[in-house]
Amino acid sequence: MKRSGQAAAKVLQAIAETIQPGITTYELELVSRKTISELNAKSSFLNYVIPDHPPYPATICVSVNDNVIHGIPNKMEILKEGDIIGVDAAVSVDGYHGDNAFTFPVGKISTEAQKLLDVTQDSLYAAIAEAKPGNRVGDVSFQLQNVAEKAGFSVIENFSGHGIGRHLHEEPQVLTTGTQGRGARLRPGMVLAIEAMVNAGASSVEIENDGWGVVTSDGSLSAFFEHTVAILSDGPEILTGGTIWENQ
Ligand code: MF3
Ligand code: CO
Repeated sequence: MKRSGQAAAKVLQAIAETIQPGITTYELELVSRKTISELNAKSSFLNYVIPDHPPYPATICVSVNDNVIHGIPNKMEILKEGDIIGVDAAVSVDGYHGDNAFTFPVGKISTEAQKLLDVTQDSLYAAIAEAKPGNRVGDVSFQLQNVAEKAGFSVIENFSGHGIGRHLHEEPQVLTTGTQGRGARLRPGMVLAIEAMVNAGASSVEIENDGWGVVTSDGSLSAFFEHTVAILSDGPEILTGGTIWENQ
């Protein structure tokens, strides 16, 4: 799983190096496809089916500004200075999946947007620190909610992180809200894809006409960070970590 995690991280890294004002989100999809094939990996998203959705048509999800998650890359969507873009990439290697996401600034962004990125990433790392044997999944989820809400932001509901392994989505769900000491007990060998999805405004979201895109109802900015994390006897190991562009 470390190999699939590192492959998923390399896809994000190639995209990070491509993002700049004037580029379309479809060009990022092309970079993703090229990188996945160079890595001899397989996209976990392309043609993925979840209930009540058409098959997912791309290898990445791109979430610009008020899009929270599941934005489909588009030839008409041009990035501009000041945007933020969440990119979600998951691949499998030898039958095991790795899943990660990061929200990148496009050129210079506002102070408020930067604070949203910082808080969302902090919430993910606070949650990861709780992913250790003896804790429960509610300890992880609590941090996602608490760090975001303390900063005056809100977490989205009805979408969550997940266990990951031979399938992209496995038990347990890792909700964005939780109570410490509640939920499934975490044991060595479990692997979780922990997802921090934070809105600058209210938590309410809507689904776009393509059946996939999730956007904030109030039009506020939203940020998304995700890592695949193994629970080892001595604590969490981030399988999708170590990329040069991530300064944690
Ligand atoms: N990281 C998201 C998730 O695990 C992305 C899903 S996109 C899909 O739910 F195409 F795979 F559904
Ligand atoms: Co995921």
